[in-house]
Amino acid sequence: MSPNHNSPTPLDPALAADLQQRAIAVAHHAYAPYSNFRVGAAVLLTDGNIVTGCNVENASYRLTVCAEQAAIAAAVGLHGPAIRIRAIAVANLNNTASQPCGACRQTIHEFSTPDTVVFFPAEGGTLAEATIAALLPAAFLLTNS
Ligand code: THU
Repeated sequence: MSPNHNSPTPLDPALAADLQQRAIAVAHHAYAPYSNFRVGAAVLLTDGNIVTGCNVENASYRLTVCAEQAAIAAAVGLHGPAIRIRAIAVANLNNTASQPCGACRQTIHEFSTPDTVVFFPAEGGTLAEATIAALLPAAFLLTNS
């Protein structure tokens, strides 16, 4: 049976833990002198490759790149435009609950499958997990006429 949004294939917990560790590790590379909110993201592609990224801020604040977007842009550069995201883990070094922003949800959605899951820091130091379909149920889609 093909996967659907209501029953995504679970990710191996060991793989999820590895992704989380990589997200924490790359967060140490963040360039965040304005917010001091250092974020890392680790993307597991459907072919098994893992690519990481961190947030990169700018004195012109709106030019800031989020960790998720940095990781996904790097993944496309390394592995090409056909990549699909199996899972993405997001971590910050501030021990703060933090969900991916709306723009990052749209970016994740662009390369998602019905099984794409997102791990992010929740209250009390716990890890939350959600499908991208749940995080962004009405993504923008460009349909060429
Ligand atoms: N940020 C991310 O990189 N990813 C998130 O999921 C939340 C926000 C960054 C953007 C900015 O550099 C800093 O965190 C504070 O908003």
